[in-house]
Amino acid sequence: MKPAIEWRGPHAPAAQAPFAADLHAALARTPKSISPKYFYDAAGSRLFEQICELPEYYPTRTELALLQAHARDMTAQFGPQVQLVEYGAGALLKVRLLLDALPRDAVQFVPVDISGPHLLAACDTLAADHPGLAIQPVVADFSRPHDLPPCPAGARRVGFFPGSSIGNFTPDEADAFLRLAAEELAGGGLLLGIDLVKDAAVLHAAYNDAAGVTAAFNLNLLARARRELAAEFPADGFEHLAFWNPAYRRIEMHLRATRALQLRLGSECYPFQEGETLHTEHSHKYTVTGFQALAARAGFRPGQVWVDARCWFAVLWLEAPDR
Ligand code: AVI
Repeated sequence: MKPAIEWRGPHAPAAQAPFAADLHAALARTPKSISPKYFYDAAGSRLFEQICELPEYYPTRTELALLQAHARDMTAQFGPQVQLVEYGAGALLKVRLLLDALPRDAVQFVPVDISGPHLLAACDTLAADHPGLAIQPVVADFSRPHDLPPCPAGARRVGFFPGSSIGNFTPDEADAFLRLAAEELAGGGLLLGIDLVKDAAVLHAAYNDAAGVTAAFNLNLLARARRELAAEFPADGFEHLAFWNPAYRRIEMHLRATRALQLRLGSECYPFQEGETLHTEHSHKYTVTGFQALAARAGFRPGQVWVDARCWFAVLWLEAPDR
């Protein structure tokens, strides 16, 4: 009998992105900036799960409520047989709501994530709760071209990209990802969550929680550099900074030097002025129509939309026309 979980592609360590090379490049450029994908080592993934539980961080529970209320309506868009590809799969909590609304033998589930050990653990738990579900995890950076298992005969390939993770891309990166997805999902579609533009105070609180979990998540990027790359810098040399930038409609997260200091990485020494930052993340907020226009330019046909009563979060169905 075939195992329920079949690994595809290289295992975690080989699939890890080149953190050292990217961190050198990040520290050498002006202004200093690095991709948020480096937040998600095992410690960072655990911290992110804690963020999702915070009272101030509304996106996760708002999206979960939308999925809970409308899973049948959403999965009705998929068709009778589906290869469900989750981009940036993480803990696999949200997709359970979709899987529960689908007949077990109508779906092959393909979670794609850069963090191999975390993905494997989440797949084990999912398999235990959903015996017989076909799961084919892929360890890969989903924002780059990657291989997927072939779509089973007669099934439509449907992408699932929850959590407003698309907001962590620049508009150009979002466009590139959507174009890649429109091609990869041709003949199927994409179900995607976006965080909506709203009151700046609500946004500010969500990224500056009272318990300091978001600060720990942000600072973990440098702690990871110390653990994995033997980077050297003063323990209290950086602090968390997150603010709403209305011009770009995004929350920006930075690591700010508390004083003039040096960060040593390998044989290089990178100076920071007091107050200088390493830009670690932007989290773009969208309007429904603005995002639909972006998706349409990338090749999707916008369909049904589900929005919560406060209009804080939206889940969008985007058809990917056959090519
Ligand atoms: C994963 N991503 C959508 C989160 C966000 O809200 O941009 C990451 C995060 N950063 C700080 N808090 C949460």
